[in-house]
Amino acid sequence: MTCKPDLTMKPEVTPFFDPATNTISYVVKDPGSEACAVVDSVMDIDYAAGRISYESADRIIAFIREKALRLEWLIETHVHADHLSGAPYIQAALGGKIGIGRNITVVQETFGKVFNEGTEFQRDGSQFDRLFEDGDSYRIGAMTACTIHTPGHTPACMTHVIGDAAFVGDTLFMPDGGSARADFPGGDAGTLYDSIQRVLALSRETRLFMCHDYGPNGRDIAWETTVGEQRDHNIHVGQGRSREDFVAMREARDATLKMPTLIIPSLQVNMKAGELPPEENGKRFLKVPLGGL
Ligand SMILES: [Fe+2]
Repeated sequence: MTCKPDLTMKPEVTPFFDPATNTISYVVKDPGSEACAVVDSVMDIDYAAGRISYESADRIIAFIREKALRLEWLIETHVHADHLSGAPYIQAALGGKIGIGRNITVVQETFGKVFNEGTEFQRDGSQFDRLFEDGDSYRIGAMTACTIHTPGHTPACMTHVIGDAAFVGDTLFMPDGGSARADFPGGDAGTLYDSIQRVLALSRETRLFMCHDYGPNGRDIAWETTVGEQRDHNIHVGQGRSREDFVAMREARDATLKMPTLIIPSLQVNMKAGELPPEENGKRFLKVPLGGL
């Protein structure tokens, strides 16, 4: 099935920028009702201190309460490797269903081994309320959202298209940032290129919302662009760059990148829909696999 978005449907999108991880979370509201979705929320961690907190998620909860919105979905565009998901915390406060791409099972299989998870860790995605396939649709109030499977950065990456707005996760960065790395386990630069072409095939005026921005070359943080701007100006894929060129560039660049600071806590929590490990002796413990990544 293919995504056929209704461009006359224009959701109200409110961004929440987290400076600690350069993540942008979104509240996406149906203009015709009080229904909304949250995309890619953040749980705060001071990794050096082993301390979790919820300022970022609390800001989103306060916003939704203040506007008296009804939270229907908590969307994860993918299993993030650079921040922890705040979805279960927000769900406990406001309800809604947590959804991610069907290929979460591939990610769970890979990292279940890396973190030496026992058989009690189900690798079937059952920690999530909904697993999206390519071309799936779901409702946020009167709006129909649809999903495009956009693997390459990770196997479970999905782009969510809601009316004239698309949430691309880490498939693309802003035009001057290019694209995300494709060297994590299950990532692939050629696959990422093919996925990006599917996003660029949406109509030019489609609003695109990024999951991350690092303000390249000293510019202010930004998160919103359009398909047209990406086609014309994206430094990695714009102006019809070839697959071969992109793969060579992406692989050379990825070979120079360090692991993200929070990859170890992020993956082991996010592959379980953001749930922290169970208590042992009244405390929760994260693992650090030596030589595992
Ligand atoms: Fe990511």
